[in-house]
Amino acid sequence: MDLIIAVVQPAKLEELKEALVKVGVQGMTVTGVKGFGRQKGRPLAFLGLYNAQRQPFTVDFIPKVKLELVVASEMTELVVDTIVKTAHTGKIGDGKVFVLPVTKAVRIRTGETGVEVLLPEPELEGMTNP
Ligand SMILES: Nc1ncnc2c1ncn2[C@@H]1O[C@H](COP(=O)(O)OP(=O)(O)OP(=O)(O)O)[C@@H](O)[C@H]1O
Ligand SMILES: [Mg+2]
Repeated sequence: MDLIIAVVQPAKLEELKEALVKVGVQGMTVTGVKGFGRQKGRPLAFLGLYNAQRQPFTVDFIPKVKLELVVASEMTELVVDTIVKTAHTGKIGDGKVFVLPVTKAVRIRTGETGVEVLLPEPELEGMTNP
């Protein structure tokens, strides 16, 4: 199992949700976050070390959305590819994807553990998207 963390443009959230459900993800957590990347929150036009007053630029936080998905390892590549393809505009600030190994998962209602926790409900099998 892997934890996929994606920090993306908020405007891409709906499209990402649709695309990820379509490839079979069984759950995700979404959080509104703020962050900065290598431009330190400055638009491309204002890159450089100093502003017009010769003062150092400040670092600004930009609103983003963070997706967290735990998936079976066989799904990781497909899910990452889907996120990258869907969230891509080609402009700075499109976001980042990180993948971490997951050592344990538990479904609290049933006590199930491991990849079982990531499977669809048996009675719904065949009714979900492929
Ligand atoms: N090293 C990092 N660690 C944690 N979060 C990060 C890191 N880099 C970027 N982020 C998060 O991802 C968001 C988007 O980053 P961003 O896409 O601007 O990355 P970038 O490396 O500057 O790439 P680009 O040049 O395409 O803008 C940031 O606002 C921040 O929330
Ligand atoms: Mg950036």
